[in-house]
Amino acid sequence: MPIASQCKGRDDRTELFPPEILPLIDDAFVLSCDLLEEYIARLALVVFKSTGLKEACQEAGGVTLDQAIAHAGLLATVARVPTAWIFAMLASRGWLDGIVSTDGETRYRLESPLPALDPIEILQSQAVHDPRCMPSYAIMALAAEQYPAVLSGQTSGEQALFGADGISAWVKYFSNGNPLYAISNLLGAIAAEQALPEGAVSILEIGGGLGSGAEALLDRLAAAGCATQVSSYCFTEISALFLKRAQRNLMARYPGYPLAFAPLDIDRSFADTGIKPGSYSLVYGVNVLHVAHDLAATLHELRKTLKAGGVLVMSECVRPFTGIPLHLEFVFNLLSAFREPLQVSDWRPNGGFLTPEQWIAALECNGFEDVRVYPDIPKIRIAYPAFVAAAIIAKKA
Ligand SMILES: C[S@@+](CC[C@H](N)C(=O)[O-])C[C@H]1O[C@@H](n2cnc3c(N)ncnc32)[C@H](O)[C@@H]1O
Repeated sequence: MPIASQCKGRDDRTELFPPEILPLIDDAFVLSCDLLEEYIARLALVVFKSTGLKEACQEAGGVTLDQAIAHAGLLATVARVPTAWIFAMLASRGWLDGIVSTDGETRYRLESPLPALDPIEILQSQAVHDPRCMPSYAIMALAAEQYPAVLSGQTSGEQALFGADGISAWVKYFSNGNPLYAISNLLGAIAAEQALPEGAVSILEIGGGLGSGAEALLDRLAAAGCATQVSSYCFTEISALFLKRAQRNLMARYPGYPLAFAPLDIDRSFADTGIKPGSYSLVYGVNVLHVAHDLAATLHELRKTLKAGGVLVMSECVRPFTGIPLHLEFVFNLLSAFREPLQVSDWRPNGGFLTPEQWIAALECNGFEDVRVYPDIPKIRIAYPAFVAAAIIAKKA
């Protein structure tokens, strides 16, 4: 996200972002975002070579996506989405040519030698600029290393990313100490504070992971003087390991808070976990709802869980425009739950992250009203298309 707006070529942050967000997107943060994007683009080059896709694209006349996958000996069911992302990323940098042929298919061809861009240079710059962001680099490097094995079907993305090595990297990544991840927690917490229903508030958090989203929210409510409004906070998560760690940390950090912990799979009936209909006034989540296999079914469960007038606040990475590859997808494209949700043509036409318009339509079609995106991404995205963190806020209709 360069500081200069893509519209006017000047710093338009004060004009486009709400004042409470400005401290989160200072110059140092913006530089870290730019460095991470460059690192990911360079890793895409590494993976283009390590997966055999580079040779495939050197075929005379170019290759279609499927031909490239076959030529490189990759497993099409797994490799299609990540390969399309790699090609789109390389094409966006002018490193790969994609030409739509008369049959309507894009043929990819490597016209010129690839640039010699070492990802390590960027990693070193980040380490000097702000070492707190290094956990994001560790996750990207882990993904890059695993690409050949995952795309050729030797292992699954889930096994490759969440093995023993992976877990310690994720613990550092999902942390408020990592500014590049903390922004999602902070935006969610600000949005939840602003949307907090009046009176006693019962909160259900979904996909709470290691608890950094809960920390951000509880700290924000305490700073705003609303902590005593929280009558109950039920923290849920699918991974038993994450749930156990989060419980240990949150119980130690917030003694005396009305915290409860439970396993919850958002792809199943919430009644399986004993969650009663109409029992929560706020449902909260950070970067989880987009992995729902059947988004309509999960929204139905979330709606059922809320009391009348209850609010849903989901911090989500959003796609500014359809068809634009997001840098973070470099990692998440390895996961089948991310790539392959149930599709709905109007608002869930592909896996991965949704656009603001798709979120609004999904919620309005599934029993929610007053749907808002915070900050106003449709206003921001022309000037700052790389700003992709947002919260989706909606009321139970
Ligand atoms: C981006 S992480 C959230 C991290 C969290 N904010 C933290 O600080 O650790 C998304 C979480 O969703 C969880 N998740 C993935 N699929 C899920 C499902 N079907 N049901 C519930 N949680 C799920 C993951 O295990 C992960 O912890």
